[in-house]
Amino acid sequence: MKHERLFFALWPDAPCRDALAAIVATLGLARARPVRSANLHLTLCFLGNVDATGKARAREVAGRVRVPAFELELCRLGYWKRSRILWSAPAGVPGALTRLEQDLRQGLAPILERRERERSFSAHLTLARKVATAMPVMPNLHIVWRIDAFHLVKSVTSAEGARYDVVESWPLRAGEC
Ligand code: 2AM
Repeated sequence: MKHERLFFALWPDAPCRDALAAIVATLGLARARPVRSANLHLTLCFLGNVDATGKARAREVAGRVRVPAFELELCRLGYWKRSRILWSAPAGVPGALTRLEQDLRQGLAPILERRERERSFSAHLTLARKVATAMPVMPNLHIVWRIDAFHLVKSVTSAEGARYDVVESWPLRAGEC
C-alpha cells in the first residue's frame, strides 16, 4: 500500500520567508545547511509515513478544527546545541495556536507514533541545520506573521534535498471560535 510522509504546518507568506532567509544569510554560517526560503515552515504535528486511511483521518480531523486566524511575532532566534539547529520562534504562543496544535494532536493521537503523541509543542521554524556553534550575538528580529490557514504537507526526498508539497489547506477565519 502507498505511504506518504505527511505533517501539518503553518507556512509563512513570501515576505516573511524572505525576511527570515535574509537574516540567516547575514549570519555567514560556515558549513551549515540553511533551509531554503520556500521550505521554511512551522510544524504543528508530524504524522510520519501514513497510508490512505491515515491520510483520510488527517483530513477529517483538520476539517473539524475551529480556530480563529491569529498573528505571530517572530522575535526570537535561538540555537539547539544537540540537534545543531538554528531556529526562530514567536515572542509568545497565542491561545489560537495552542488550540490548533492540540486539536490536531488529540484528533490524530490514534495514528501518531508514541514519541510524537507525547512530545511537548515547541513552536519554531527551523532556519538552518548542521550549525556548528551558537552565534555570539543573535541579530534582532521582528517579523509579524498573519496566519489565516494551516496545511497538510507531503515531504518528498529529491536529489536537491527535501521538497514540501502542500496537499490541502484549511482556512482560519477572523472571529471564529
Ligand atoms: P522541524 O524542522 O521544525 O523540527 C518535515 O519533516 C518537518 O516535520 C520537519 O521540518 C520537522 O520540523 C518536523 N518533524 C518532526 N518530527 C519529525 C521526525 N521524526 N522526522 C522528520 N521530521 C520531523
